[in-house]
This record gives sequence, C-alpha cells and structure tokens, in this order.
Amino acid sequence: MSDTITKDLVIIGSGPGGYVGAIYAARKGLKVSLIEKRWLGGTCLNAGCIPTKALIKAVEVYDEAKNSSKFGIDIEGVTANWPNIQNQKIKVTDSLRQGIDMLLAKNGVDLIRGEGSFAKNGTILVSSVEGNKTLISKHIIIATGAKTKHLRIPGIDLPVVIDSEQILSLKSMPTSLTIIGGGVIGMEFAFIFGRLGVKVTVIEFLPQILPMVDLDIVQRLTRYAKMANITVITNAAVLSIMQNDNGMAIVKYRQNDAEKSVESEVVLEAVGRIPELNNLGLENINITLAKNGGIQVDSQMRTNVENIYAIGDCTNLVQLAHVASHQAFVAVDNILGIPTKMDYNFIPSVIFTSPEIATVGKSEKNLQDAGISYQVSKIPYGSNGKALILNQPIGFVKLLRETESKKLVGASAFGVEANALIATLTVALNNNLSVSDIKKTIFAHPTLSEIIHDSALALDNEAIHFFE
Ligand code: FAD
Ligand code: NAI
Repeated sequence: MSDTITKDLVIIGSGPGGYVGAIYAARKGLKVSLIEKRWLGGTCLNAGCIPTKALIKAVEVYDEAKNSSKFGIDIEGVTANWPNIQNQKIKVTDSLRQGIDMLLAKNGVDLIRGEGSFAKNGTILVSSVEGNKTLISKHIIIATGAKTKHLRIPGIDLPVVIDSEQILSLKSMPTSLTIIGGGVIGMEFAFIFGRLGVKVTVIEFLPQILPMVDLDIVQRLTRYAKMANITVITNAAVLSIMQNDNGMAIVKYRQNDAEKSVESEVVLEAVGRIPELNNLGLENINITLAKNGGIQVDSQMRTNVENIYAIGDCTNLVQLAHVASHQAFVAVDNILGIPTKMDYNFIPSVIFTSPEIATVGKSEKNLQDAGISYQVSKIPYGSNGKALILNQPIGFVKLLRETESKKLVGASAFGVEANALIATLTVALNNNLSVSDIKKTIFAHPTLSEIIHDSALALDNEAIHFFE
C-alpha cells in the first residue's frame, strides 16, 4: 500500500538539525513532515551529546562523594554502580525524547517513521514496516547526520572493538579500555572511564590529542589525564588488533619507528564521523558532494538542486548539535524568503573533559598560522573566590586581542563550568564588544564570571586579582 502526502516542507532526519527545523517551520505556518528511520532526536539525543553528558554528571557526583571530606563531609563506601548510572542516563534521554515528540505534535508536525529516499526532485519515498508512503513537497531539507568512520586495519571487526554508540550501552564497566583517536569523542570517554577507575590508554595519530585545541591547554589536560588513570600515546599509528586466548584485545601500533602494543578488555574506535548518505537516492537528483564527503551547500544551506537544502553533520562542515540547529533556522528562513546566511566565525565549542575546555572564535594557533599579531591574557581560576569555594582552582580563562585592530578575536575557558563562561564570551565576541565594554560590565560576586572581567583588565595590564 502506498499513500501520497503533499506538504510545504519535508525534512529527512530528526536530529538537532531536523527536529528544530521542523518545529521552527511549523511555527512559521508551513505544513511540515519530518521523516525518521531510527530514533527521534538523532545521534545527539540518543547516542551523543545527551547520554555522554549524563554519564559525565554521574562521574562528577562520584568524584565529589569520594572527595567530600575536603568539605568536612565524611561519606563511607562510595561506589560507582554502572547499571544504575545507565538507568539515570536512560531516564534523561527518554524524558527529552518524549519532550520532542510532544513539541512536534503541539506544533502540528507530521512525524513519519521510516527511511526516506529521493525518487526525483520533490518526491520522497518513505519505506517502513508499516508500508510505504510517497511525499510530495516543494521544499526538502536533508538532515541525515553522520556515522562512525572505520579504520581499515586487521582486527577492526573483532567483537572487542566498539564505537561511541556501543560503549554507551556496555552491560558492565570494563577493567581496561584502549581508545583509538584522541579527538573529542576519544577524550570525553577517556575521562568518563578513567575517572571511574578503568585503566585507559589513548592512541592518537598526530603529535597532540585534540589537535584543534591550543597546546597550553592540551599540555595541562594531559597532566590531569594522567591523574585520571589515562595514558596518552601520541604520534602513534595503529597497525592491527588481535584477541588473545583470554579474550583480551591486543592493539599493535607504531611509534617512532618502534612497534609496540597495549592490552585491554575493550577497544573504542573514535577516529571521526562521516556523513550518513546511504540509501538516500541522492543519485536520482544529482546532488553534488563536497570534497569533505558531505553534501555541498552554500552559506544559505542550499544544495546545487533547487529547493533542496542540507544541514547538520551530513554537510560535514562543523559536527556540532548547536550548529545543526542554527543551520536549520537559516535554511527555513531562506525557504520562507527571508535571505539569511550562516556565519561560522563565533561558534562556541565545549569539550567535556575534566577540566572542561570551551572555546570561541580564533585560537592562538589560528592566529599564528595566519601571521596575525595578537595580545593574550590568561587569568587562572586559582585567583577567583568562587573557584576556591568549589575546590576547583584549576585552569584559566584566556582572551585574544588582535594587536592592530584592538578587536577581541578569540577566547577560551579551561576549568570548571567553562561551558557557562563561554556563553558570555560568545555574546561578547559575536556582538563585537570591545575589551573596554567588558571592563565596564559589572560581574556578580562571588562568581566564576569575574575571571572574564579580570581577563579583560589583564589585556591592559590592569588585572586586580592576579599579577605575572
Ligand atoms: P543527527 O543527530 O545524527 O540526526 C540525524 C537523524 O537522521 C538520525 O536520527 C538518523 O536516524 C536519521 N536518518 C538518517 N538517514 C535517514 C533516512 N534516509 N531517512 C530517515 N531518517 C534518517 N555535539 C555537540 O554539540 N555537543 C556535544 O556534547 C556532542 N557530543 C557528542 C558525543 C558523541 C559520542 C557523538 C557521537 C556526537 C556528539 N556531538 C556533540 C555531535 C552531535 O551529536 C552532532 O553534531 C549532531 O547530532 C548532528 O545533528 P544532525 O541533526 O545533523 O544529525
Ligand atoms: P575527531 O575528528 O574530533 O577526532 C578524531 C581523532 O582521531 C583525531 O585526533 C585524529 O587525529 C585521530 N585519528 C584519526 N585516525 C587515527 C588513527 N588511525 N590512529 C589514531 N588516531 C587517529 O572525531 P571524533 O572524536 O570521532 O568526534 C567526531 C565529532 O563529533 C567531533 O569532531 C565533534 O565535532 C563531535 N563531538 C562533539 C562533542 C562536543 O561538542 N563536546 C563531543 C563528541 C563529539
């Protein structure tokens, strides 16, 4: 049986790109269908941002309970109960999924379960166990996300080798874990499991983990990694994986011309994610792909095919949930005839290691590579009252100002609640606020945000709570 449905807009994929675009478009009066083949909320809600951060919260509670005597509170026998940690994670994701379901219904978005593929421009077929549907729509947004990239090395298919989705639903905590790839996924999981007492080894191909992050932060993070049971091996190419008679994984790698190996119960493969374009019928509409393997789009999120847009991880531009959502707003505005462009200059990014790393705008590395002269201020958390109250006097806030234009061009926070501090810094940079604008702003006391104030003062050598 095949039904035919006609809409103003059809969106394929219900991640933070697709579902946000669907609700926004419906609020603007469009008749919208949202197609999802697997799970409402996409990778972010089901196997990405949300479940990982729920695990991180559990680890923080565990650490706080273990260290509570520092605050004069004695707690005996603190243990991490993995199945219960998992249950709490599931409660959070279930609740958010129900929330999205409710929001879609309230806004009149027609959620269609099944796999969508292009028959021709303007016509999408949805196949599911309940039958097939044909959707006809003037406008279509592709928001199909990304999937794990796999290495082509012997042993990668062994059952002991898992990806970021499988590790989230492990039935029990492993005693040891090797992580291939010291990027964002690799380092977040390294801290989750290392802090729970698992012996973690990270093998990174490049000279530094988190290659996009400034070296001063990475060097400090590497020290904290050591304290969290994490061994970081850089400049190392993984050659093969084997399983010994005891079922343990042996990961062989080459470092500085020497072949070495590490043994662990489980191996996590985290070497990047690639656009999910399978079975989409893109060949039927002659969509152009970009060199990065994603769907090519312009700054208005338009593909080369009229009335078809692409947003989120399937474009492989920036693989972040908030970018996918923002691209959705841009695509829908353009569909509505409101010309809007994506601006990638001030996208905040938070890496939820311990301490957290949050950045926005240019890094020192970006400025050095571009030969731009800049001034830097760096105020340590240790100079801040609230950081001491929290017993977290670790890390710093860094501001970067272009020497010639005197413009603030980048900021980072490395420490507790860096995720919250970066929001203030993003508003400042995105709105072209000057250092003196920040200096004139009153920040509440005692809060971590005062470090931002002192960092601005420090750029003009006026910091109150710190001297070099
Ligand atoms: P997705 O969220 O991947 O959603 C795409 C949806 O499309 C999926 O539900 C899929 O089933 C569906 N789909 C695909 N093909 C079809 C089809 N043919 N028909 C119907 N449906 C289809 N980002 C952050 O900003 N912060 C974080 O803390 C963060 N943590 C992460 C942790 C992990 C472990 C991972 C893997 C990723 C993390 N990310 C994080 C990245 C974030 O998850 C992605 O950037 C985001 O999910 C991209 O959103 P999207 O809408 O483009 O795609
Ligand atoms: P990534 O690109 O961040 O990191 C992959 C790492 O693997 C790189 O450091 C790379 O040098 C290394 N690598 C590649 N091949 C290798 C090999 N053969 N051996 C050893 N190392 C190798 O990709 P990752 O970590 O998979 O994450 C994908 C994306 O998901 C991120 O880029 C990010 O956009 C998003 N994400 C965001 C999070 C957040 O915002 N907090 C959290 C997790 C993921």
